[in-house]
Amino acid sequence: MDFKPDICFVASEIYPFSKTGGLADVMGVLPLTLHNMGYKVCVITPLYGRIATSEFSPHLVYEDLNVGYPWPEIKTDIFRADFKGMPVYFIDRGEYFDRRYYYCTYRGDYFDNCERFIFFCRAALALMKKMAHAPGIIHSHDWHAALLNSYIYYQKRYDPFWADTSTVFTIHNLAFQGRFSVRLFWDCGLPYEAWNMDGVEFYDSFNLLKGGIAHADLVTTVSPSYAREILTPEFGCGLEGILQKRSSQVTGILNGADYTVWNPAKDKYLEANYSLSRPEGKIICKKDLIQNLCLPERLMDRPVLGFIGRLRSQKGIDLLLDIVPELVRKDVGVVILGEGEAEYEARLVDLVEKYPDNISGVVGYTEEMAHKIQAGADIFLMPSRYEPCGLTQMYSLRYGTPPVATAVGGLKDTIIPYPKKDANGFVFANPLPEEFLKAIEKALAVFEDKKAWEGIRKRGMKADFSWKRSAEVYAQAYARLGLRGISN
Ligand code: ADP
Ligand code: GLC
Repeated sequence: MDFKPDICFVASEIYPFSKTGGLADVMGVLPLTLHNMGYKVCVITPLYGRIATSEFSPHLVYEDLNVGYPWPEIKTDIFRADFKGMPVYFIDRGEYFDRRYYYCTYRGDYFDNCERFIFFCRAALALMKKMAHAPGIIHSHDWHAALLNSYIYYQKRYDPFWADTSTVFTIHNLAFQGRFSVRLFWDCGLPYEAWNMDGVEFYDSFNLLKGGIAHADLVTTVSPSYAREILTPEFGCGLEGILQKRSSQVTGILNGADYTVWNPAKDKYLEANYSLSRPEGKIICKKDLIQNLCLPERLMDRPVLGFIGRLRSQKGIDLLLDIVPELVRKDVGVVILGEGEAEYEARLVDLVEKYPDNISGVVGYTEEMAHKIQAGADIFLMPSRYEPCGLTQMYSLRYGTPPVATAVGGLKDTIIPYPKKDANGFVFANPLPEEFLKAIEKALAVFEDKKAWEGIRKRGMKADFSWKRSAEVYAQAYARLGLRGISN
């Protein structure tokens, strides 16, 4: 196959084929934006069992491509889909990827995650070799694809195929590192010298994400504030040392929002569409949400607060659960959509049972409900302990649902807090239930002042986080690494 990609993205999720969170959203739009700017772009990702393929019908392009890991003869099939004109390649090895979940079950991580994602990286390398021309840039994401940077770093020394290739590694969440036993390092295909404290070794364990940080030509993360935060022990998750060492190659590029998917004027999941100039539909969406979640009609006259996210301590879901009784006392509605740790799921179910007149929740993952909450709620809650970027607050701004959020990471970079004159939301400094409650109280007070509230809502709806701008910043970074203009 004679395809010379300018940029080859490698990631474990891409919307609409697969998704557990924001990584998928980013992969579903950044590569395509660059493709539409004229770059030759492709994406490599696993073919999961639960992949949504109907619209794009991937077809087999290679059978039995040799991967050579974890034993010499192992092979993979490669499928390819045409995603709005851009090729997406799927690594198909059933025993690794044809599973009910992507990374873990309710019992914990799959025991062979290290093997699965080493296989993924090695299969991606084999596929690139098959393309006959190496990509100008290999842009990998998160721990699942991090090892590619280490492979290229060492293979460049002896394999001229990669001579003109540079690597970019994006960290979407430093807390997920892919840490495994040293035993799994021995046969992963990296030279022994990679096992050192400036390489993949981390307190005697094999750390895939650290390899990405150590060996990529450029390390990016998804907001400027998070790029600064991760250099400190508070947010560095133990990797602040290597990040500091590489700090001249670490930069923050703010994500965008995909307004082809997240736009209340066109959203296919909503009972009614609405926009800045035609706002009437939002109230219909509120009614629809209240009915869908079996909340009392009475809440049409009360503020409804929404939360969407993984039920994990990162998202501060415990702060919200802690203050539910206070919120019930104020007679507001609270709707929560999420799945995650069993403890938080159980607490949520208990609270819904205890306060059915005010609280409703969906434990699980539903794209449709996420859109309905963005549109139907009045206020969006995001009390994250840390937030590399956060996309849901960008969506909530566009949906006219001002956020109340912790002032961290990407939240700090996207929300202009009340009482600033150009405010579009509310923030609080420390992830503590009492501070969160105070910030909500502030928002509720402004909510009563219709004129002030309209101002906040409108400014949020006008805020523009479209991907074009972010994609241009990536393009400039690629150019600095030597990617010559747009190839034809
Ligand atoms: P993160 O990637 O840390 O989970 P982001 O705010 O970047 O957070 O992105 C989360 C994405 O996942 C959004 O598109 C959000 O709507 C979606 N999402 C999170 N939880 C759920 C859920 N339970 N059901 C549907 N969509 C969800
Ligand atoms: C991660 C982060 C989130 C970010 C997303 C996309 O999942 O937790 O803050 O928005 O990746 O970059």
